[in-house]
Amino acid sequence: MAADMTAPVQRAAELRRVLEQHNHRYYVLDDPSIPDAEYDLLFRELQALEEQHPELRTPDSPTQRVGGAALKEFAPVLHRLPMQSLNNCFSEEELDEFDRRVREGLGLEAVTYVAEPKLDGLAVSLSYENGVFVQGATRGDGETGEDITANLRTIRALPLALHPAQGQAKPRLLEVRGEVYLPRAGFDRMNAEAAARGDKLYVNPRNAAAGSLRQLDPKMTAARPLALYVYGVGFQQGWTAPRTHAQVLQQLRAWGFPVSPLIEVVQGAAGCLDYYQRMQARRTSLGFDIDGVVYKLDDLAGREELGSVSRAPRWAIAHKFPAEEALTVVENIEFQISRTGALNPVARLRPVFVGGANVSNATLHNLDEVERKDVRIGDTVIVRRAGDVIPEVKGVILERRPEDARKPVVPSHCPVCGAQVERAEGDVNARCSNGMSCPAQLQGALQHFVSRRAMDIEGLGEKLLAQLIERGLVHSPVDIFQLTAEQLAGLERMGEKSAENVVAAIGKSKDSRFERFLYALGIPDVGESTARDLARHFGTLEALIEATQRDPLTETSEAIKPKDRYPELRKVPDVGPIVAAHLCHFFAEPRNREVITALLKAGIRWPPPKTSAGGVLSGKTLVITGTLPRLSREEAGALIEAHGGKVSGSISAKTDYLLAGESAGSKLAKAEKLGVAVIDLAGLRALIGE
Ligand code: IVH
Repeated sequence: MAADMTAPVQRAAELRRVLEQHNHRYYVLDDPSIPDAEYDLLFRELQALEEQHPELRTPDSPTQRVGGAALKEFAPVLHRLPMQSLNNCFSEEELDEFDRRVREGLGLEAVTYVAEPKLDGLAVSLSYENGVFVQGATRGDGETGEDITANLRTIRALPLALHPAQGQAKPRLLEVRGEVYLPRAGFDRMNAEAAARGDKLYVNPRNAAAGSLRQLDPKMTAARPLALYVYGVGFQQGWTAPRTHAQVLQQLRAWGFPVSPLIEVVQGAAGCLDYYQRMQARRTSLGFDIDGVVYKLDDLAGREELGSVSRAPRWAIAHKFPAEEALTVVENIEFQISRTGALNPVARLRPVFVGGANVSNATLHNLDEVERKDVRIGDTVIVRRAGDVIPEVKGVILERRPEDARKPVVPSHCPVCGAQVERAEGDVNARCSNGMSCPAQLQGALQHFVSRRAMDIEGLGEKLLAQLIERGLVHSPVDIFQLTAEQLAGLERMGEKSAENVVAAIGKSKDSRFERFLYALGIPDVGESTARDLARHFGTLEALIEATQRDPLTETSEAIKPKDRYPELRKVPDVGPIVAAHLCHFFAEPRNREVITALLKAGIRWPPPKTSAGGVLSGKTLVITGTLPRLSREEAGALIEAHGGKVSGSISAKTDYLLAGESAGSKLAKAEKLGVAVIDLAGLRALIGE
């Protein structure tokens, strides 16, 4: 029976096209247009068709992204045009030098450059024959790389076929050059998973990306959240290339390749420097690592004219950021008492210049980390200082460990108050057992209690608190509310006026909110967002305390698996067994309950819970896009839901509002086209009456 094949052939082609279009929208444009479940249905339909008619299984089929057998080794690939490297510069002077050489070489007064982020990943070359992805390779030594086609296919942002360009034939051969990288969130996830398995951690996203790309089994690569940006074309045949690099990038975008939206056309060395400074300022908030920027001559004919020296083009240069990591020696490991009594390990270092500053102290986070990384006094370690983040010890260079390297000794007694140090089973820290009777803990707890996002008491800073503790005027947060202007005015650097201001600020802080109060209590691991979730879930302090009493303390019980412990508290999103255990312990402690009662008696209060059912946004659907000022998308989503609204991932005519932040893209355009109301964060706050 000769089945009619036209229908399956057409359907398979249609499914391939639609699925790849959705992949592109999801992974390249970051703008999905159908729910995941619908995508899965189409995907399974194509899989079934190909199962029935194996001859329909083309190399550019989305079903072929993950598949194929594991390899024994990677085959060598000769690059048709060598993959060059870039010369570096580290200063404004060197940048000016570069620009002068380019201008003199071309005999021009001023030059247009394209400025790009320098991604810290791995260079790859992607070959397309008649518009279909056929081979991908690593850079290797620049002449010969390794064939990693199967692994590259698993990267969803990589187009398996070029999107048809209007009125243009597909190039017979096209080598696209770009960088595979691992976004920081994916890196953190990989390391969290490695830690859970007890495996070694990856040092940085670049190494993790390299390891992922060089897996012999593509299924392993597929499980890694790799991403891709392309930045140029190598060899090509049958394509009339445009005249400028900016136009090349534009064409690559149109073909469906991911091209960084951070790329800009700039004028002269001054434009380059301005770009460098703006990128450096944004560096830590990009979500992926860049180690500098790259300037490239925009005019392609000019590039030919300038040529290359020793495998690096004369028409481009990388302007590197100061290194964020450096090696130095651990001279000592000390312990500082935190507000929750944790003995926080701090490495005292031989001073080293890193991330643009001299660093002599670095955090080791907690005891668990010290043990896991096995950091010893005398060790040579990698220190990282990125942006304004506290410098940290990332790892030990074991090869350089001297024979007399010593493991740090955890003190048996608190170095501040002398009380017994204890370590509970499963706790990553050892803790001083003295609670608020330990001056270090009291100081830390009070600083947290009065901080802006907690009780927000203005004018009550670190130094003033230290004086109050030293003079015995304050033994707990409750005492703050009994302070008088006379008492304060007697302290160093305190006039009558400022004393009165502080008393007024204390009075004002009594009008609080449940989640702020909860956060202010300083329960271990209960940060702002957990406090908000708890407040939203339980509504009242009484309900929360009651839940902690219904959940028996089971964290050490062998009979109950961690995931089954604390069922009541675990109903709250993101509350796991550790946070739940902290909550139960905190509220079971009579002293803590006394403090809370006294604080409420002192006049701290908050408005009763709002019920979301009658919220102003009930029945409304909102979509969020772009970067919002000060609020993550999750937080904005929670805010909307707290007022009864629904958050959706894609815009349709049924959407009521588009909440748009900075650099909103295609969703904004679509909203405008559909006539959906567009609001910013201030608009949302106005809607919900905040
Ligand atoms: S262009 C001929 N552009 O930096 C120029 N490279 O040392 C070839 N890289 O191996 C490279 N971001 O891995 C170029 N926007 C960018 C880049 C970039 C990262 C890497 C690439 C290359 C190395 C050059």
